[in-house]
Amino acid sequence: MSETAIKNPTILVIDDDAEIRYSLSRVLSTRQYAVIEAPNGEQGIAIVKKGPPPDLVFLDVRMSGMSGIEALQHIRSANPKQLVVLMTAFGTAQTAIEAMKYGAFDYVMKPFDPAKVLALAENALKAHADLRAVGDYKPTINIDDYREGMVGSSPVMQDVFKTIGQVTASDVTVMITGESGTGKELVARSIWKHSHRANKPFIAVNCAAIPDNLIESELFGHEKGSFTGATTQRIGKFELCDGGTIFLDEIGDMALQTQTKILRVLQVGEIQRVGGSETLKVDVRIIAATNKDLEAMVKEKAFREDLYYRLNVVRIKMPPLRSRSDDVPQIVDYCLQSLVKQKKSRVSKVSPEAMAVLTRYQWPGNVRELENVMYRSAVIAQGDAILVKDLPAEIRSAAGEPTAPIEAAAGASNPGVPAPPAAPAANSITTAIDAIFAALRSSGQPVLPRVERELAGRALQAEGGDEGRAAKLLGVTKAAFQKLIAS
Ligand SMILES: Nc1ncnc2c1ncn2[C@@H]1O[C@H](COP(=O)(O)OP(=O)(O)OP(=O)(O)O)[C@@H](O)[C@H]1O
Ligand SMILES: [Mg+2]
Repeated sequence: MSETAIKNPTILVIDDDAEIRYSLSRVLSTRQYAVIEAPNGEQGIAIVKKGPPPDLVFLDVRMSGMSGIEALQHIRSANPKQLVVLMTAFGTAQTAIEAMKYGAFDYVMKPFDPAKVLALAENALKAHADLRAVGDYKPTINIDDYREGMVGSSPVMQDVFKTIGQVTASDVTVMITGESGTGKELVARSIWKHSHRANKPFIAVNCAAIPDNLIESELFGHEKGSFTGATTQRIGKFELCDGGTIFLDEIGDMALQTQTKILRVLQVGEIQRVGGSETLKVDVRIIAATNKDLEAMVKEKAFREDLYYRLNVVRIKMPPLRSRSDDVPQIVDYCLQSLVKQKKSRVSKVSPEAMAVLTRYQWPGNVRELENVMYRSAVIAQGDAILVKDLPAEIRSAAGEPTAPIEAAAGASNPGVPAPPAAPAANSITTAIDAIFAALRSSGQPVLPRVERELAGRALQAEGGDEGRAAKLLGVTKAAFQKLIAS
């Protein structure tokens, strides 16, 4: 925090009530803040426009003349980076919503609690300094180079891309496996786009989402009157997809009876509509995907072995995101640039600290979860960069970051109960050790004795002063432990 703090920040207080200006100035002057006052919106705007802009503005919502919300809009359009805290005596939902909508950093209720005002000012100025520190962020990718929509320079992803290239020339059946959100459908589409079938349909069928009694009709169609409710003839997906590529997603959820019919399509390229006697020839490439253990299902006879071998001619295993965390910064940039391109956000940068948190997180929902988090954070971010405070609490807490939101610290809204920090994950330990090593090295101190002493002290504290247990915790003898403590 101290590295990013600003020297003597200036704070502009805009309020038509001289008493409020006076008391707020007094509170703020107890820290090293230089306070400027303005008695109405017009004068406040003029000060911001004239520049240099203050580091922070406290702005009253209800003033005679121009309202605070109106002044906020003028200020933010004159200087989109200006941080503004609104002050209000009426904590209505409307004020809160409007304040945030027009880009206020936060709002605070009157009468003030001086401690909360100072905490809020400090948080706002920290965010201001962090945003400035992000400076000229250099994205790791250029979105135009990623028309595939698939990002990843890790060796495992490079292998995936190569395999996609290899299977596009033929009609070989491909089985894509991997956890949810790892990009299985994206890969299937990419194979299709690069194949000679690109100008014919790509149809995705989610086998898990369709009830067993309807899936056959969905895939192969049905004749009129073939079952109750079949009032008209229906053309199935395989027929519609003739010449194209069908993506059978969640194939592990397909009923055995339907599996038999899929096998027939693969073996002889024929289908029959439900309730029909006519055999139809179809030319469809099949790509299947699952996040189930099909091998185990085959052993349990829940999946046909012959179909398994037919589908599994080429296997593409999608790696979980946590196993390729080096790709996270690229995917982050890709997501932000896509959001900007789709006009869903204007945020295109991430602070190095926030990027470190994102890279450390384990991403159980893989790329899909990362995409959602980037969208949420970009919407929440008040400046042009995403800071640690903008990330969802669960991501911050899992990465060992404090989770109390700024509002809670400042008391402007419900104080959240901070979640306990989760046990650090393996790569967060590596990150922590890297940081310790770098810090001690640059301070010129001998690394090992210092670390040993620090850890010994912590172990002793954790074990309530019991040297024997502390030694055990560290994995050394009691004598060795005592030597460490004494060093
Ligand atoms: N390598 C990647 N680069 C950029 N975006 C990706 C990448 N992989 C996946 N995505 C995005 O993540 C989201 C999830 O991908 P997709 O739907 O292909 O995953 P899935 O494995 O089929 O998931 P599920 O098993 O939940 O159906 C999509 O929005 C996709 O665009
Ligand atoms: Mg999918």
